[in-house]
Amino acid sequence: MIRPTGQRLTSEPSFRILGIESSCDETAVAVVENGRIILSNVVASQASLHAQFGGVFPEVASRQHLLNFPPVLEQALKDSHLELKDVDAIAVTRGPGLPGSLVVGLNIAKGLAMMSGKPLIGVHHLEAHLLSVELTEETGNTNPLVYPAIGLIVSGGHTELVLIEAPLCYRALGATLDDAAGEAFDKVARLLNLPYPGGPSIQAISQHGDPQAFRFPRAWLEGTWNFSFSGLKTAVLREIKRLERYGTGLPIEDLAASFQQAVVDVLVGKTLQAAEAFYAQSVVVVGGVSANRALREAFFQQSKLPVFIPPLELCTDNAAMTAVVGYHRYRRGQRDGLDMDVLPNWPLMELSS
Ligand code: KG4
Ligand code: ZN
Repeated sequence: MIRPTGQRLTSEPSFRILGIESSCDETAVAVVENGRIILSNVVASQASLHAQFGGVFPEVASRQHLLNFPPVLEQALKDSHLELKDVDAIAVTRGPGLPGSLVVGLNIAKGLAMMSGKPLIGVHHLEAHLLSVELTEETGNTNPLVYPAIGLIVSGGHTELVLIEAPLCYRALGATLDDAAGEAFDKVARLLNLPYPGGPSIQAISQHGDPQAFRFPRAWLEGTWNFSFSGLKTAVLREIKRLERYGTGLPIEDLAASFQQAVVDVLVGKTLQAAEAFYAQSVVVVGGVSANRALREAFFQQSKLPVFIPPLELCTDNAAMTAVVGYHRYRRGQRDGLDMDVLPNWPLMELSS
């Protein structure tokens, strides 16, 4: 029988990657098929453990990762209905992140790779955040990302603006000069006596506040693609002190909403300016702060370009996004040795595509 041209003899090969993530305070393991379909995604958050310190306590985080990994790994394999022998590779966050936390995840991954003979792939955590938008099965948004794209990474440790010129090809445009956006949320929450992590607390209380009540400064840093949030944090502190002198009680809702609005204005404003300047075709917003409702709404309302933001559960740290990068890097032939070490300060620009 003559087969029509283009018809495949077999179906597309399937690649299943086990992802492991422990760069900060989430212990996570996931299995992802072909870089798109989540077979399992287990995250053990340590947030409540760190709440008493008002931020992540590094030694506590690495010790907790050690305790969390065995059950999280077991659950992720169980949920995927697979065994270790069924996955094609093991992808693990190599950096950037807290050194002690990264070491725990990397050593677990090395142990699994040694035991199973599966290839080991070191993953950049920020690239993982950027590629989290490819897990579109979750949202039903199957539109492909069009390049070049502008990427905004906003998390507890990073605020970076990048030009994604082509798949896995990045150019740094700017970053925060001081606090990361998520760090600003966490610090201002502490000033307002709101629980850690600050982002969700500020978002919740802002619902009852007026975002125009206080006119906090916006650091536009004209002529650069950089950000700065420490002046905003100081302005909130100064306002709190001023109000306390009057002894009338703090309008926490208004303070939180006005702070949140200032962050949203700058993040959205600068990202969309960059999109125009670099003739971007789409906008990608990722990282823990991309879970913020006001930020998401502002992007969708103000952008003329398609905006890609992961579903809420994939904004904060998870291992499904680690597995997505692992899939692409595996297909490009990346294999890391068992002597691979963590890179706590790994710049995204050092990635070779
Ligand atoms: O990406 P992520 O889970 O961890 C890092 O790699 O840092 O981001 C955590 C950060 C925290 O600073 C947290 O306050 C912030 O993301 N965050 C939010 C929201 N949810 C988490 N910030 C604003 N609004 C939210 N809804
Ligand atoms: Zn992260």
